[in-house]
This record gives sequence, structure tokens and C-alpha cells, in this order.
Amino acid sequence: MFIENIHITGFKSILELSWQPNAHINLIIGKNGTGKTNFLDAIYYMCLTKSFLGSTDLQNIHYDYDFFRIEGKFKNEQSKTKIEASFSHSTKKIFKINKEEYAKLSEHIGKLPVVLIAPDDTDLIRGGSELRRRFFDGIICQSDAEYLQNTLLYNHFLKQRNHLLKQLSGQSNINFDLLDLYDDKLIAIGYKIAEKRKSFLSDFIPFLEKHHAEIATELDCIELGYETQNLDLDFMLKFKNARTKDLQFLRTTLGTHTDDYDIVLNEKSTKKYASQGQKKTIVIALKLAQYDFLEKTLNRKPILLLDDIFDKLDDIRIQKLIRIISTSEMGQVFLTDARKERSIAILQNIPYQLLDMDNYHNL
Ligand SMILES: Nc1ncnc2c1ncn2[C@@H]1O[C@H](COP(=O)(O)OP(=O)(O)OP(=O)(O)O)[C@@H](O)[C@H]1O
Ligand SMILES: [Mg+2]
Repeated sequence: MFIENIHITGFKSILELSWQPNAHINLIIGKNGTGKTNFLDAIYYMCLTKSFLGSTDLQNIHYDYDFFRIEGKFKNEQSKTKIEASFSHSTKKIFKINKEEYAKLSEHIGKLPVVLIAPDDTDLIRGGSELRRRFFDGIICQSDAEYLQNTLLYNHFLKQRNHLLKQLSGQSNINFDLLDLYDDKLIAIGYKIAEKRKSFLSDFIPFLEKHHAEIATELDCIELGYETQNLDLDFMLKFKNARTKDLQFLRTTLGTHTDDYDIVLNEKSTKKYASQGQKKTIVIALKLAQYDFLEKTLNRKPILLLDDIFDKLDDIRIQKLIRIISTSEMGQVFLTDARKERSIAILQNIPYQLLDMDNYHNL
């Protein structure tokens, strides 16, 4: 799938923009603050129904507007797909595919796979476990609708259980029936989630190893593991035993929402020991592995969004990455850069379409 045409109105800093990108490489240039990242975010929004910057729909509306609208025409060898996403102060969010509105937004996930590489991505390694869970869950959800439904259900029951723990605190005559019900739901759904995460990793790791070996300059050896208690034989007992603690802390202390992924380089924790460059390399390898995994499981090429990557990488890594994205196996790519001359020099001899955000009103 690639975008043939995109029309944006009132999305963040973008007042009105209409553009026909190339099916392969696209370069978005413009000074700082001209809306390059917002443009990528609008594409991401059409693919995953939300902003990658975590902004709410209200925040996505341009300050001077009372609505935003993003329209995209997507194409592959067999078919064309039109996406219309809009939100206004007075109406709810409307998300349509080929003029038909979705009953549930989650039905859209996986139809238009997308992979984003952004400047803050090393947080994936440096930050807390939630960021890693969100990253890997994002990949699995794009490729498996049942997993997506299970995570939505799990989060629903987790919220209910935490709410109940707060209600029960300080009460002397506690009726545990509802708590028992939530326990059973979380244990059962959590088991399915943990099983899927585990089987996903065995498919994902070969892609990660391949891309890491491609980009790393040293003979670094990468390993990725999944840490969970949910698959332990005595997990149900552990969960029940944690109840006293849960009632004390007023939250559910065990479950898949506390799982983590262990990224290890040369037998050492990357979070603690890897250099900046090694972290960046791992992040890019993770994202390219995400691309390959989604392509293989969905049988269609994701759209690749590369935000400001030239700033963060050394020349050798840039060259390697450009070589990878410019092969004919790669689908549509959108790159942003604030420095026009540099990106034009990097992309010399490669055909691409240019969007100049300094002058987009004239397009
Ligand atoms: N809802 C909104 N309405 C209007 N402007 C907004 C809105 N949300 C964000 N902006 C503006 O968008 C601008 C940032 O745009 P963006 O991050 O896309 O720029 P950029 O071209 O990627 O810049 P850089 O080169 O620094 O990465 C900021 O000036 C911000 O104030
Ligand atoms: Mg930016």
C-alpha cells in the first residue's frame, strides 16, 4: 500500500495541504517548527487512528480551527482505499474507509501498517518497561486482531480492578466476589497475552538479528528476551497471594501490565552499558525488524516514516540505512530533515519527491 494523495486541513500546525507523494522515497524539508513532524503524524493518524506524539484529538486541531480533517488515497496492485479521518469540537471522531464509517476504530488497525523511526526512540532502551511493552504491543496489535481485543479487554478489567481496590480500602466487611471475578478475567486474558508475546518474539528475533548485523559496525551480538510471570505454573497462586499487597498499594501489582523485554548486547544490559551509538543502532534494527515482521504477517509493505534521523546518526549508519530504504523491496518512505542541502546530498542519485514545508501553501 502506498499513499497516492493526501489532503490535510487544520491538523496541528497544518492549515491546508494537498500533496501527491511518490510511491517510493519522499523527502519533507523545512525549517524548525514548519510542520514536518506534524505531516508525518497525519500519515500515522490515518494508519493507526491516533497521533504518535500522544496528543489528544482536541490538541490535534489547529489553534484557529474548530475541526481537523485528513484524507488519504492509498493504492496497491489490486485495489484503492480511501481514508477519511476527522474530528471537530461539535462531532465525535469520524473515521471512514471507502466512505464507510467504522463501528469500532480497532477494526482499522492492521489495514495500513506503518513503522516510525523518530528522534526520541532510544527512550525505548533507556526508559521504563511501559515504553517497551507499548512498542512490542503496537507491533503485535497491527498484526493480530485477537491480540488487540485481548489487550483492550485486559486494560478494561485492570482499570475496574484498580478502581475496586480503591473502593475496598479501609472497609471492614469486604465482599470479595467482584474482586474474584476480576482476578479470574485478568489471569485468563493475561495468560493469552503472555503466550502471544512469547511466540511473537521467536518470529521477531531473526529479523532483529539480521538488521542489527547489517547496521552495527562492530561484531556486537544482540539478544532479546521476554520477562513475565504470567506463564509460571503457580501464577494463579502468586496472583491471589498478592491481594493483600494490592489492597495496601491500591493497584494490581502482578500481571502482563508489569512484564518487560530484556535487550542485551554482548551479554550486558543495553540500558546500563550500551553506548549512544549502540543504542541508536539497536533501535533502528528493532524498527526495521518491525517493518519485516509486519510485511511478512500482513503480506503488505508498511509505510516507513523517518523523522529527523540524519541528525542522530553517523555517516556510516546513514549510508547503510539509505542503502536499505532505497532498495526496490522497500515500500513508500517519508523522510524529514530541517537541513535541505544535507538531505539532498545524502539522497543524490536516488529519485525522490520533495515537499518543502516552508512553501507548502503554494503547492
Ligand atoms: N494544534 C496546533 N495548532 C497549531 N499549531 C500547532 C498545534 N500543535 C502543534 N503546533 C505547532 O506545530 C509546530 C511544530 O511542528 P513540527 O513539530 O511538525 O515542526 P518540525 O518541522 O518537525 O520542526 P523540527 O525541525 O524542529 O522538528 C510548533 O510550532 C507547534 O507550536
Ligand atoms: Mg520535527
